Amino acid sequence: MPGFEFVGQEEFSEIKDIFDHGGILFRHGFDALRQGRYKCEEFEAAFAKRMNAPKALAVSSGSAALRVALAGLNIGPGDEVITQAFTFVATAEAIIEAGAQPVIAEINQTLNLDPQDFERKITAKTKAVIVVHMLGVPAQMTEILAIAKHRGIAVIEDTAWGCGGFYLGKPLGTLGDIGTYSFDFAKTMTTGEGGMLVFKDLQVAARARAYHDHGHENNPALPRWEDSRAGSGFNYRMSELQGAVGLAQLKKLDEVVRAQRMQYDLLAKVVSQFDDLQMRAVPAGSEITADALVFFTESPEQAQAIREALLAVGFGTKILPEAVTWHFAGTWDHMPSLVAKHGNLKTAFPISKQLLSRAVALPILAKLPEGTDQKVQQALSKVITTCHALM
Ligand SMILES: Cc1ncc(COP(=O)(O)O)c(C=O)c1O
Repeated sequence: MPGFEFVGQEEFSEIKDIFDHGGILFRHGFDALRQGRYKCEEFEAAFAKRMNAPKALAVSSGSAALRVALAGLNIGPGDEVITQAFTFVATAEAIIEAGAQPVIAEINQTLNLDPQDFERKITAKTKAVIVVHMLGVPAQMTEILAIAKHRGIAVIEDTAWGCGGFYLGKPLGTLGDIGTYSFDFAKTMTTGEGGMLVFKDLQVAARARAYHDHGHENNPALPRWEDSRAGSGFNYRMSELQGAVGLAQLKKLDEVVRAQRMQYDLLAKVVSQFDDLQMRAVPAGSEITADALVFFTESPEQAQAIREALLAVGFGTKILPEAVTWHFAGTWDHMPSLVAKHGNLKTAFPISKQLLSRAVALPILAKLPEGTDQKVQQALSKVITTCHALM
């Protein structure tokens, strides 16, 4: 989560470079004034290189990236898109915005998509799956990709939390057809608000690019106001200011992930001392972003007690167990199409609900204050000792 901890002089210099050279904040046109500064384009090229992807497209948010990905794949009314019960609400919202039907599959001990339930939920209408590397742990991509290939389904990786992580040596976001990223202020790298897509297929990339810019094909033979149109679209463009910040943040990505992993290891050592607590399962071949450390307790009550004890020593939790409402499909009864598909959402995803209610997520910062591991140790000891005394 700590891109924001690393915002500094480098980001400022990139922005200053815009203002020192014409101050053009729009990614297109003004060629004579901008003196060669095209920050969004530069950011896209650098991101594609870092992720070893043929093409990247910068957009205004991670939510926009998901919507644009679906447009790139021509997904719309009449289509079904499967995603997982534990994700941020934006994943389902993007499917609804595309006019398609979200279908929710259960998670497993990885807290990501359960490949078997994914396969069970496939129908003749299924066009894509949005698999989420939730809280920086890769999903079981080997199994998911095999099922998707066999059934002819496109794979979108929602890599909002997975930027900088790897699976079997490949950057997260580049295993499926499209990877989407979020650069909001809580993410591993940040542009304040912002997002990115990476593509395997250049035709899909071109369709997505046009869609994110009102259908503009950016035909070099025509001025922008006379541009040719690929189809209807919308405005999901990134601004040059975001592009500038992104360029500086991208250079820090590996350092951020390294720092997070060091803090993660310190806290993992503490958690693993307690036999009652079980670490979240991580698929073999994963290199996590270490955005959060998640473990399972023995009961929902124990999870809540641990949250209280951590707060009492000045250390909070992240999303689990307290903020699951925004991140668990079982609470999204404000989405009529989800209710129409799954019925009573409170009971629709029992396995995910049971897992999430026993899970605790510790937020990882690159610069956690000294003594955090002792605080966590103290809080966990207190709760576990009390639980044992009551048994
Ligand atoms: C899994 C997931 N997908 C998508 C998003 C949306 O990203 P943004 O906030 O940049 O719109 C988020 C944001 O937290 C997220 O967690």
